Amino acid sequence: MKKQTAVVVIPTYNEADSIGKMIDHLFTKTFPAIKDWEMKLLVVDDTSPDGTYKIVQKLQPKYPNLELYLNPEKKGIGFAYVVGFRHAMKKMGADVIIEFDADFQHPPETIPVLLSEIDKGADYVLGSRKVKGGSNPQGWGFKRVFFSEVGGLVARLVLFFPFKTFFQITDPTTGLKVSRVKGFVEKMDLDNLYSKKFGYKLEFLYKMVKLGAKTKEIPLKFQVRKAGESKISGQTAKDIFRSVFLLRWNDKTTQSFLKFAVVGFTGYFINALGLEFFYRLGLPPNWAAAIGAELAIISNFTWNNLWTFSFKKISGSLSIVKKFLTFNLTSLGAVVIQFIVVGLGTNFTGDAWRQIWLVAAIGFFVLPYNWLMYNKVIWKKKKI
Ligand code: GDD
Ligand code: MN
Repeated sequence: MKKQTAVVVIPTYNEADSIGKMIDHLFTKTFPAIKDWEMKLLVVDDTSPDGTYKIVQKLQPKYPNLELYLNPEKKGIGFAYVVGFRHAMKKMGADVIIEFDADFQHPPETIPVLLSEIDKGADYVLGSRKVKGGSNPQGWGFKRVFFSEVGGLVARLVLFFPFKTFFQITDPTTGLKVSRVKGFVEKMDLDNLYSKKFGYKLEFLYKMVKLGAKTKEIPLKFQVRKAGESKISGQTAKDIFRSVFLLRWNDKTTQSFLKFAVVGFTGYFINALGLEFFYRLGLPPNWAAAIGAELAIISNFTWNNLWTFSFKKISGSLSIVKKFLTFNLTSLGAVVIQFIVVGLGTNFTGDAWRQIWLVAAIGFFVLPYNWLMYNKVIWKKKKI
């Protein structure tokens, strides 16, 4: 069987002191030890003023599997990876692509470990400083460690909480990764990135996860930079947070959840107004409240169908009637929840706390309950 191809992509900007050593190390030590993969290296340089690309060009005759992609100007690490990924797929026959740094902060010995996880069935393998065996560089001061820890946690929270990926990805800003092309990178939308700088890392991560990539973390002992300078600046954290926030905000689920909240809130007002209106019309309060509740149910069903879940809208009169009846049934569940939570709560604290218990019942139980019912029962995706 033909070997699969792994392309290591290294973006460079002013790495003249590292790149030659790195290329030699990979082609003479790392790659020869990997038997079951065809190994190639692609350097994406932004025409570094220190002549990094010239060192690569000089080494090309010696290593046939070494390629250089030269950007005419500095556009950022994210941009370098976008063009690098495209080149690796189109011109180098990449089956997997490895993201790697020039400066030896990523130990070359991790490359075969990354690939062995792909062999075992993972689609996306990440080097993590947070898992057992991984670590930050010894020399890092409190400030850099603090920003890395807090930043990583916030990025995880904003991107993935409360889904299982939140627990699976411990080091979201890591720069060491391998991604499977078939079914994943080939489908990734590389054109519309929020950031062409370091924020790209979070965007690639998010897109791979959304495509359903089976992820795996391996320990990364992040080394101290031996030569040259870090390209991380004061703007980097801002750039990363901007990407993370925009990704989550524009996520389909987030958008429907926000609409669901607006519709639910509106429903509450319709309920209250209905009670008032029919009561003043002369109906007894229990009947007025019940009519108000049904009006809220009708509003919730209608607006959620037309707006919140417009991408899986229920249509056809028979389906609408059937789903609407089911919707009434699931709405009864919310009534039962309030009955239990407010009942138990006031038993415990006295009736004076009834409004607090109502808020608790809605916030902690009715909201998740409705969200679950809407997604899994009422607007569940049709199985094809
Ligand atoms: N072509 C190109 N253009 N390459 C760049 C650019 C750019 O604008 N900016 C950085 N690079 C290259 C560097 O030359 C280096 O090979 C690699 O990208 C990583 O950049 P560093 O400047 O070494 O980043 P770092 O070590 O400070 O940051 C590390 O930690 C981050 C998370 O904390 C890296 O591993 C990052 O990848 C990681 O996200
Ligand atoms: Mn570095």
